[in-house]
Amino acid sequence: MKILVTGSEGMLGRTVMRRLNGDHDLTGVDLADGDLTDPQVVQGVFSGTEPQWVVHCAAWTDVDGAEASPEEAMAANAGATENLARACDAGGVGLCYISTDYVFDGQGTGFDENDQRNPINHYGLTKARGEEHVAAMTAPWQIVRTSWLFGDGRANFVKTIKGLLAVKDTLRVVEDQRGCPTSAEDLANVIGFLVSGRFGGIFHGTNAGDTTWYGLAREIARGCGADPDRIAPCPSSEYPRAAVRPGCSILRSSHLEKIGCPDRPSWQTAVADYLRYLDSGQAVFP
Ligand SMILES: NC(=O)c1ccc[n+]([C@@H]2O[C@H](COP(=O)([O-])OP(=O)(O)OC[C@H]3O[C@@H](n4cnc5c(N)ncnc54)[C@H](OP(=O)(O)O)[C@@H]3O)[C@@H](O)[C@H]2O)c1
Repeated sequence: MKILVTGSEGMLGRTVMRRLNGDHDLTGVDLADGDLTDPQVVQGVFSGTEPQWVVHCAAWTDVDGAEASPEEAMAANAGATENLARACDAGGVGLCYISTDYVFDGQGTGFDENDQRNPINHYGLTKARGEEHVAAMTAPWQIVRTSWLFGDGRANFVKTIKGLLAVKDTLRVVEDQRGCPTSAEDLANVIGFLVSGRFGGIFHGTNAGDTTWYGLAREIARGCGADPDRIAPCPSSEYPRAAVRPGCSILRSSHLEKIGCPDRPSWQTAVADYLRYLDSGQAVFP
């Protein structure tokens, strides 16, 4: 298939470009190629590339920054998605929209695919609006929610903790937020499966299992050969942020299982693989 990948320079987009290359005819676009909040830019990209499917990874991903720039964040996440959904509908083109656990409020023990959205920060609201545009499409659509992503890109939690362990004796890490750490590599495999099979609906694409940021940091320490007891737990109130975070945003998955998607590795395996990759010297942003 001819596939257009938006956000192709971002953490997930660059991984999707690498993983789907060979199986499909890919074109990547990012902000430097044009701002997708402009419908004419989207029209131009469509007429230039004539895609059969779009994997929409481009987004405003600065969760705290979205509180300070709410209109820009809404335009990037909801407006650009609406533009893409319209262009897809006009041409009968499928759209795979990457979304987030932050569309949920974090109350309870986790969320199923069809649970009600109830975002508690502005970023989550912008992504939920994007989902609404996609779910209203007449052309085929997929919403793939993910969480706590790490992979080839500028900054992520795994790289940050690895770097801090190299310069500090002890770290205090938030223990009162629980979610599903996810490797961009494993998510890209899920996206490849969904797009190739043209499956429709809402899916939760994460690594298996869940933990807290504290638990994740301890696993990173283990993977780096450091004593995990150098990581101490703390409440989120110790690190005040502009955007409030959901307390428990575990994404439970049953839709992927129903369509026969291969099981995702555990988040611990994904962390170990990613640390090996960082140490291998192949990382584009080590
Ligand atoms: N990272 C996470 O932990 C996480 C968790 C859950 C869900 N997600 C979702 O996963 C997807 C991929 O996230 P990511 O971490 O790979 O994001 P990322 O690294 O921030 O990449 C997003 C890319 O989109 C580009 N972009 C932003 N606004 C644009 C616009 N108006 N027009 C065209 N391009 C634009 C960005 O360009 P600039 O860099 O130049 O701005 C960037 O290259 C997003 O939908 C995100 O909401 C991410």
